[in-house]
Amino acid sequence: MTWSICGSRWVRTAMCLAAFTFVSVDAVAVELTARENAVFGQICARCHARPDIGVPLIGDAAEWQRRGAAGFEQMVRNTIVGAGDMPPLGTCAFCTETEIRNLVQLLSGLSPEEAVTP
Ligand code: HEC
Repeated sequence: MTWSICGSRWVRTAMCLAAFTFVSVDAVAVELTARENAVFGQICARCHARPDIGVPLIGDAAEWQRRGAAGFEQMVRNTIVGAGDMPPLGTCAFCTETEIRNLVQLLSGLSPEEAVTP
């Protein structure tokens, strides 16, 4: 799979490697389209790979488990309408709901089945 995040100037090498490890060992295999890949590396990772701005980070399994406890769909909805300092659609104005859902899956490492509301 092409890992466009590694070519992004926003992401430091260490972060890139961490993210790569996270995805390659991830049991939740999400097949991303080329556009989703580009959005993930160029838009979502702009914030979600930065440890200095208080975002849930790519690969922070514990943090995503905690957020996923509210339900996978809730995370998708929060991404679409915006949450805290995240603008609606995570600033991806052209993203479809399906794309957002796939990106949330990749970002969180959670699948819709895993992160169900208890
Ligand atoms: C401008 C910075 C920024 C960008 C770009 C961004 N996010 Fe976020 N994101 C945040 C911040 C900040 C939070 C934490 C919000 C909070 O809970 O206070 C967050 C939280 C989230 C959450 C957790 C929501 C929850 O229910 O707890 C998801 C899922 C998410 N982002 C997905 C995405 C996706 C997918 C993209 C790319 C399309 C993206 N984000 C792009 C800043 C960003």
